[in-house]
Amino acid sequence: MTEVTLRHAEAADHARVVAVVDGWWGGRPMAAMLPRLFFVHFGSTSFVAETLDDEGAPRLLGFLCGFLSQTYADEAYIHFVGVDPEARIGGIGRMLYERFFDAVRAEGRDVVRCVTSPVNTGSVAFHRAMGFAVELPGEGPGRTSGGGSDDGQAYDGPGQDRVRFSKRL
Ligand SMILES: CC(C)(COP(=O)(O)OP(=O)(O)OC[C@H]1O[C@@H](n2cnc3c(N)ncnc32)[C@H](O)[C@@H]1OP(=O)(O)O)[C@@H](O)C(=O)NCCC(=O)NCCS
Repeated sequence: MTEVTLRHAEAADHARVVAVVDGWWGGRPMAAMLPRLFFVHFGSTSFVAETLDDEGAPRLLGFLCGFLSQTYADEAYIHFVGVDPEARIGGIGRMLYERFFDAVRAEGRDVVRCVTSPVNTGSVAFHRAMGFAVELPGEGPGRTSGGGSDDGQAYDGPGQDRVRFSKRL
């Protein structure tokens, strides 16, 4: 692959991302979880990865939407990450995460949290490879039980189980 560049996400990236995201998730309807606000209001902690196609036009390879926690002054949160299936296992997900870690570390954050669906075994493997720990029930008083039960069942509502990850930078 030609050179990959990372840059901050911009409002104009929203349409490009929602155009591909359901396909990147194997047909799961995901676009509704990525409203434009992430690209408008969280650009300083959200990134896109691109390369140039054969005609020299930018080709989207991946994106990350994240933000600084408003509630916990030491934390940052990754809401979404996606890489073009044709470009996976090429280090782009790692590049996006490391860029995010650098950005939030510069803002004084040293904990990163995120959740993923337990059926998304690829995502679970990726987060483990990135050094995230699956949080145990009760770990981090007041931090881990954002809703639902202590084991992640119905974390995001009925039928919406989540694996919760954290990493200390
Ligand atoms: C999860 C995802 C972003 C990973 O992106 P990627 O560019 O393929 O990841 P990388 O190539 O940077 O891999 C980083 C590490 O994770 C590991 N990894 C990535 N995907 C993996 C998988 N499916 N199974 C096992 N390990 C995996 C890599 O082997 C690598 O490990 P290493 O650094 O120890 O060698 C990508 O698979 C994706 O877009 N999946 C669909 C969307 C999704 O599930 N997003 C997460 C929930 S929001």
